[in-house]
Amino acid sequence: MKFCNLCMCVALLSVSTCAITPLSSQTPSASAATDEAAYKNAKLPVDERVADLLKRMTIEEKATMLAGSGWMESAAIPRLGIPAIKMADGPMGVRSWLGSSAITNAANTPKITSTSFPSGVAMAATWNPELVRREGQAIAQETKALGRDMILGPTVNINRVPLWGRNFEGYGEDPYLAAQLGVAYITGVQSEGVIPSVKHYAANNEEFERHRIDEKIDERTLHEIYLPAFKAAVQQAGVWSVMSCYNLVNGHHCAESDYLLNEVLRKEFGFKNFVVSDWASTYSTAPTVNAGMDLEMPGGPQLQHMLSNPRAQEQGSSGGWLVADKVLAEVKAGHITEATIDDNVGRILRVILLAGLIEHPHTPGGEVDTPERQKIALEGATEGIVLLKNQNSLLPLDPAKIHSIAVIGPNALAARTGGGGSSLVRPDHAISPLEGITKRAGSAIQISSALGVGMEGEDPAHDTAEARANDLKQAIDIASKADVAVVVVGRYNKNESEGFDVKTMDLPAGQDELIQAVEKANPRTVVVLNTGDPVTMTKWLDATPALLDMWYGGQEGGNALAAILFGDANPSGKLPVSLPKKFEDSPGAKTYPGENLHTEYSEGIYVGYRYYDTKNVEPQFPFGFGMSYTTFEYSDLKVIPYTTFSGGVQYRGVAVDVNIRNTGHRAGAEVVQLYVKDGHSKIDRPVHELKGLSRVELSPGEAKTVKINLENSAFEYWNPSTNQWTLDPGTFEIQIGASSRDIRLKAPIQIAR
Ligand code: BGC
Repeated sequence: MKFCNLCMCVALLSVSTCAITPLSSQTPSASAATDEAAYKNAKLPVDERVADLLKRMTIEEKATMLAGSGWMESAAIPRLGIPAIKMADGPMGVRSWLGSSAITNAANTPKITSTSFPSGVAMAATWNPELVRREGQAIAQETKALGRDMILGPTVNINRVPLWGRNFEGYGEDPYLAAQLGVAYITGVQSEGVIPSVKHYAANNEEFERHRIDEKIDERTLHEIYLPAFKAAVQQAGVWSVMSCYNLVNGHHCAESDYLLNEVLRKEFGFKNFVVSDWASTYSTAPTVNAGMDLEMPGGPQLQHMLSNPRAQEQGSSGGWLVADKVLAEVKAGHITEATIDDNVGRILRVILLAGLIEHPHTPGGEVDTPERQKIALEGATEGIVLLKNQNSLLPLDPAKIHSIAVIGPNALAARTGGGGSSLVRPDHAISPLEGITKRAGSAIQISSALGVGMEGEDPAHDTAEARANDLKQAIDIASKADVAVVVVGRYNKNESEGFDVKTMDLPAGQDELIQAVEKANPRTVVVLNTGDPVTMTKWLDATPALLDMWYGGQEGGNALAAILFGDANPSGKLPVSLPKKFEDSPGAKTYPGENLHTEYSEGIYVGYRYYDTKNVEPQFPFGFGMSYTTFEYSDLKVIPYTTFSGGVQYRGVAVDVNIRNTGHRAGAEVVQLYVKDGHSKIDRPVHELKGLSRVELSPGEAKTVKINLENSAFEYWNPSTNQWTLDPGTFEIQIGASSRDIRLKAPIQIAR
């Protein structure tokens, strides 16, 4: 056999079939796996097992493991009992793994159903890491039940611009909140021996030209805004896999960025496990392998099929660069060392061993969508609903006084469980707002319903001027006759999705007008937003007495909404993202989406409330905001410096205590938010930054002391002149708030280095 002629093998879109010459130096010391083999001994340290396994593998076997063998499978080495890692998309449940989202979301494909959990932004609105941990665990249990080993989530990319098509997947605009929830999800997944993949490293913040857009981001902004959730995933959760992203950062595709992968992820953060590419996002062989991008996905015939699609080529998809013959050719040419191959394969093996995939293969046939998991989905959907306005306490609805409800809107009659793309889970059943409200209302309350307006683009055949006039008339008619109208508006998985950004912050066609008409017909109108991205509300908000944001609530969304409307649950969700009045107000608007495939993150660290609060731009609703049916009183803020030792290292920080009392008549939960203000540092900093949170449940009249510990790192900033985290000693302010713009208590604290 001969080594491939390189120029024949590197054709951009081909998966080469060139033959391989074995490298003599790589003859394994022991060729067969024996039962006594060290790598099979789960009691030995994982790195010892990896070293043993590497010794037994040929270089061809190692090279084979660097590329996927199918759409959702890595390559197995049966001779040694190394299984393929069987993957499935997340993060909101287990999605079908049979092909790309275009295939698996098509109506006529074989149905693989699982529990559809609320979208990431809805879970973020709970501000409840423990619930997100349970969600991660439940999703991992379903992953195993379906015979898979790896779930492609969580998404921790920051909501930079309100139009990103995937904002619904992530955990909002704040790096601390995203980090807490990402860590929780990963911890839950890994507790079940399932591999998560925190994605998309590092700054996937727009879908526009996602394969080609080059983002200019300074190091401080990367470190303070776009990297903390990944850092926490590595350092706090010990995440087993990181997915690199499609876009370029500072001139380099993420899958071959030496800076992002080697310098930051591995050296700075200490990541020891494997990096997987996003699907069809590799552009080279040696630079990708040398950057420490360990596993190229997808692979095999499915990759070839995908890349043969002219649309994929037009969009800049690329792959097939880490197939064994190309890798080995680069080894032979001296562009990749065999030690690097060992490092990369070793990291994949390490995770296979950590997850116990050799000893405990996951076999399909387990139960999905169990009542326990439905309950977690319901809890998430309910806790994530944010009450944004409630004039004259229109909510909760009192079943003793309400005899009729008109349920209206394109998102009232259908269950819009999530945005579109690779995260869209097909549940066995999903509850629409209309179903949820009807079930909860019971026979004593009369429910009427109307579409009001069709969802833009969903049913073009129905979308005539006449049909629109009829739909609107019907809505006005039922609204005017009912005691209360509930209008559910928003987007759906075809106009808010992975693969493209939403066109405008405005609601889809006709929805503003629908709200205005219904509000005119019935002043007791509750507007419900069912979307992941912020929407413009200026046309109707003043006339709206009650407003809820239910995001995409997964399969239980309709039940959750009903529970909030009727007061069975007290709203406790808080905005994980600022809702601007209009797109132009948002910090990234000036440079989004970029020109000539370049965009500059010129707002720097001033993302979300860091921008609105520092530059005095009033959002429609601020970050952290969310009302309740009860009231809370904040008192007795205490800030006490502490020193602890762990592993011989001294840690300094501040212990913060605050008293929260439920001063109303209903049980409820409050999310206590801790912001740090730095008024003295040598560098420009936001007016304040979220550094702690705690969700506390209180019965009427009950008070609890909430305790939040801050390490000294909470006071640091990334110093661009030294490229290090830096603390400028001096007086900081601890702020306790119910939103970024509702600071209830403040206390100064002296911090020494
Ligand atoms: C998405 C990833 C996803 C992968 C596999 C890509 O298009 O960006 O989030 O995990 O496809 O479906």
